Amino acid sequence: MRSLLFVPADSERKLLKGLEAGADVIILDLEDSIAAANKATARAMAAEFIAARHGMAGPRLYVRVNDLTTGLTDDDLASITPARPAGIMLPKAQSAADVEQVSAMLRVHEARAGAEDGAIRIMPIITETALSLFGTAGYASPIARLSGLTWGSEDLSASIGARASRDDDGRLTGVFQMARTLTLIAAAAGGLPSVDTVYTDFRDDAGLKRECDDAERDGFSAKMAIHPAQVPIINAAFTPAPEAIERSRAVVAAFEAAGNPGVVAIDGKMYDRPHLRLAERLLARADAGSH
Ligand code: COA
Ligand code: MG
Repeated sequence: MRSLLFVPADSERKLLKGLEAGADVIILDLEDSIAAANKATARAMAAEFIAARHGMAGPRLYVRVNDLTTGLTDDDLASITPARPAGIMLPKAQSAADVEQVSAMLRVHEARAGAEDGAIRIMPIITETALSLFGTAGYASPIARLSGLTWGSEDLSASIGARASRDDDGRLTGVFQMARTLTLIAAAAGGLPSVDTVYTDFRDDAGLKRECDDAERDGFSAKMAIHPAQVPIINAAFTPAPEAIERSRAVVAAFEAAGNPGVVAIDGKMYDRPHLRLAERLLARADAGSH
């Protein structure tokens, strides 16, 4: 999983367009991009769209439901579970307890729909309220349905009253860097993929590429998109380069050839166990590709 493209679920045109974008995951949105009056229509459209594509090749289909404080979450889940999406995205998750709660709700709907228990995965957005930042450590404990962790800045800005999340040079300010970093660390601690947040300036390809490269360098494995044009840039950034794969294979081979010692030398440079672990991670990511 490298790219996850948001598509407002009440737009037939965008739903069809989204499928062609080359994204690994499509997130059919029922939350912030859908007006209150359109929630029911969007639910029905999402369910129909997903059911019609059941068992077909193409991107995995997720649904972003409305958060637990809205009173809409259970109806969202009731509508979409029979269509069997690959997963749901839970916005404004306050802590792992919210994921446990949604997991229990899903369990009921899966049973009603005759679906396998636990089949639908959950990816929470873990930094959208001030309180949620104190709950990030909880995701390091295993929760069966978790498929990754991601973060968001717009709702966090609203929660704390920050007028901007970036400085004049376009760099994230301290609060938002912390939210991003906590997500990365919680995901690593829980052995989960970490997914970087959206880049909203969808005509700025160079800015998106820079942000993708920074995220990939820092250890994120994927990034969310809001426009089809962002997908190829994201996919390229999160696909390990052939030279990196070759280098990682050489590191693994050198450790094997030497009988798996603590440290080896390759071309006059030292490689110890953390280098081996990094090489193995990169090869795992290369193997996973679009999955
Ligand atoms: N998914 C699928 N198709 C999309 C799309 C998306 N996220 N964003 C744009 N498109 C389509 C448009 O419908 C248009 O198709 P058309 O030429 O067949 O009409 C084409 O791509 C080009 O779009 P463009 O004119 O560049 O942008 P726009 O002004 O139509 O849309 C947004 C801009 C921001 C409204 C749109 O990108 C969007 O809805 N993004 C997702 C918003 C969202 O889900 N937000 C919640 C998560 S933060
Ligand atoms: Mg939001």
